[in-house]
Amino acid sequence: MADSYKIIDHKFDVVVVGAGGAGLRATLGMSAAGLKTACVTKVFPTRSHTVAAQGGIGAALNNMSDGDDWRYHFYDTIKGSDWLGDQDAIEYMCRNAIPAVVELEHFGVPFSRTPEGKIYQRPFGGHTVRKGEAMAKRACAAADRTGHAILHTLYQQCLKHEAEFFVEYFALDLMMDSEGRCRGVIAWNLEEGTIHRFQAHTVVLATGGYGRAYFSCTSAHTCTGDGNAMVLRASLPLQDMEFIQFHPTGIYGSGCLITEGARGEGGYLTNSAGERFMERYAPNAKDLASRDVVSRAMTVEILEGRGVGPHKDHIFLHLEHLDPQVLHERLPGISETAKIFAGVDVTRDPIPVLPTVHYNMGGIPTNYHAEVMKDGKGTIVPGLMAIGEAACVSVHGANRLGTNSLLDLIVFGRAAALRAKELIEPNRPHDTLPEGLEDKALERLDKIRQANGDQKAGAIRLGMQRAMQKHCAVFRDEKLLSEGTRELQNIKDQMAKLEINDRSLIWNTDLMEALELDNLLAQSTVTLASALNRQESRGAHAREDYPERDDQNWMKHTLSWLENDQNVKLDDRPVTLHTLTNEIDPIPPAKRVY
Ligand code: FUM
Repeated sequence: MADSYKIIDHKFDVVVVGAGGAGLRATLGMSAAGLKTACVTKVFPTRSHTVAAQGGIGAALNNMSDGDDWRYHFYDTIKGSDWLGDQDAIEYMCRNAIPAVVELEHFGVPFSRTPEGKIYQRPFGGHTVRKGEAMAKRACAAADRTGHAILHTLYQQCLKHEAEFFVEYFALDLMMDSEGRCRGVIAWNLEEGTIHRFQAHTVVLATGGYGRAYFSCTSAHTCTGDGNAMVLRASLPLQDMEFIQFHPTGIYGSGCLITEGARGEGGYLTNSAGERFMERYAPNAKDLASRDVVSRAMTVEILEGRGVGPHKDHIFLHLEHLDPQVLHERLPGISETAKIFAGVDVTRDPIPVLPTVHYNMGGIPTNYHAEVMKDGKGTIVPGLMAIGEAACVSVHGANRLGTNSLLDLIVFGRAAALRAKELIEPNRPHDTLPEGLEDKALERLDKIRQANGDQKAGAIRLGMQRAMQKHCAVFRDEKLLSEGTRELQNIKDQMAKLEINDRSLIWNTDLMEALELDNLLAQSTVTLASALNRQESRGAHAREDYPERDDQNWMKHTLSWLENDQNVKLDDRPVTLHTLTNEIDPIPPAKRVY
């Protein structure tokens, strides 16, 4: 099989797949440590989805003198996770947030500034000081283009350290040997149509989330969770896939993100009666409650007939009362987005918004060193790491706090580099690669490339996106999820009738989209099965038939495997309830109120 493709071989100490914030932070750390590092990416680095992150990166710098402390950040993150987050990893993240953000500043990230010249920080949902007493100003912001600022800076730093980039290479599969060690990755060069075998002592998956499994999402079209699907095909599990975050303020119709920072600067939501309804659902935090809480409240308002617009199917976000100078300086990006995608001048009118898929809390299970785990006992997969949204560390548990995504990228991208530095001696010779490790990947590529049915990938994808949006959204129950599982199976059956017209390997976007669709279908399958399995409500997983959190039976991570592309096998892994050091006590489970 391999003979029918032109295969080019490469050897690196480390291969990072993905060039978003996590991938670039890892690439930078690894090349700076003297490791021969390749970054393989399907889009040009500065086009990665991190560029769309808006409101800020969380770190308890206390620049706004609100008494903030990383221990409050630790508390908020655990509460936000609805006690499904691993407390050792959360301690690692919140404690390291401060040096990691200062390091970003030193790398050259152009943060907004306070009058004294410190990094500007704004409030964000669920971030408090003194365990909920007052909202914290913790989101370190570069206006409302924080991801853009970070991504460009990290790319420049990677170039300075001479990391090698393989741009517009689509990763197909991991090369796993018979002992379960990851030996590298196989990728397709989209421009030249060649196949590349990247041998590495460690592969780092930084391939992002799979928001595009849904009809309405804030994610880029490229967010197809390719690394997650590669892990499933390698007979390894994904973790906590039932937890899908809906961001409260996607623009109605287009799904474009309006940052939570807009509410952090004083914006608020109203229903058709003009009521600030969040006061009823979260009397203290109101519009700055945690995202799952706000998204559920908005959905209830709409379902009970208090939505706005001719179809009463969305909510208004008001910014028109804010000082135009604040909008100009702190929220220029979303002011423009609202104009383009909703035709709204934010200085005059409210923005129509709707909860929209934004983030996957689930992903590839790892420890806080970014090493991939393959079972409930935490056994490490040698040679494989995962970071960023592709990974499930798990610092976000059942619901991520805003600003903790950029933070996760940076802290665990850095952690992966530190671990690689400990484990890998630069330029260590490579063992001979066993024959045929790429065969399965090329068989899959060939099968899809030669498909000659009559169903377009775009039509199958739309069916999947509509099914996920209807059956696995903010509220779920057994009936809805079971129907969704059957519907998804029908959609998957259509893949047998897939039609690919272009059989070339050069810029064949038809083929690439079909491969991405196959990846999305695998992840949708385990998402529905995990959601059906979890008989409780926790964080973003709101089961109407099991409305309470059930710590007795369900304080555990879901592990899901996909056998033969078809059958889902489920198991679980305990939540880590102890901290990393004895400098801080664990936070015992409590009822979550805002
Ligand atoms: O609302 C936002 O700016 C999104 C931030 C995040 O998801 O962390």
